[in-house]
Amino acid sequence: MQITYYGHSCVEVKTGGKKLLFDPFITQNPLAKSVDVSSLNPDFILLSHGHGDHVQDAIQIGQSSGASFISCFEMVSWVEGKGLKGHPMNIGGKWNFDFGTVKLVQAVHSSKLPDGQYGGPEAGFVIWNEEDCFYFAGDTALTMDMQLIPMICPPLQVALLPVGDNFTMGYEDAVVAADFIQCDTVVGIHYDTFGYIKIDKEAARQAFESVGKELILLEIGQTITI
Ligand code: NI
Ligand code: MN
Repeated sequence: MQITYYGHSCVEVKTGGKKLLFDPFITQNPLAKSVDVSSLNPDFILLSHGHGDHVQDAIQIGQSSGASFISCFEMVSWVEGKGLKGHPMNIGGKWNFDFGTVKLVQAVHSSKLPDGQYGGPEAGFVIWNEEDCFYFAGDTALTMDMQLIPMICPPLQVALLPVGDNFTMGYEDAVVAADFIQCDTVVGIHYDTFGYIKIDKEAARQAFESVGKELILLEIGQTITI
């Protein structure tokens, strides 16, 4: 799979022949000025929850790309209300799409859309096909439920975990999460964008290294293949 980082928690993952864009928050992100939103052309947009720093550019990109949305029922109802299409799901469920299987897993957070509408529960995504398997955790605390993931999903090649603390788990808890999900390669998300979530990147990398795991902190615009 190919992972491109667009800042904050926004990543595009190319897998199963499709482009999946997660949690688009670009135009309002001062660190992501170099990203041209109009150049993004995903096949699917996946939203973990309704907070502005995860959905700010979702409608615009949905309109320009014609992408289909995948999220919790309440979130998909919101995009459908704006004339866009989507596949509604909820936590614990999985569905086979043409690019692979998507399973919604527990995340502990809150979810209110920018217009005040209820966004349903926050969810993480585990996605797999014949080549790839990865976990996008969204905004979440460290949870005991993460231990279920290796019991019910194929082995993870990589996990995208929040590491910024304050609104989500910090990198110390993300080390424990990586252990719970039995994954040695983590891409950090939800850090440095604003003051509350600025981290010491070297200390964060070191915390993973000390337990034999790797924390990858991508530059905005950078693409890696896993
Ligand atoms: Ni949030
Ligand atoms: Mn957030």
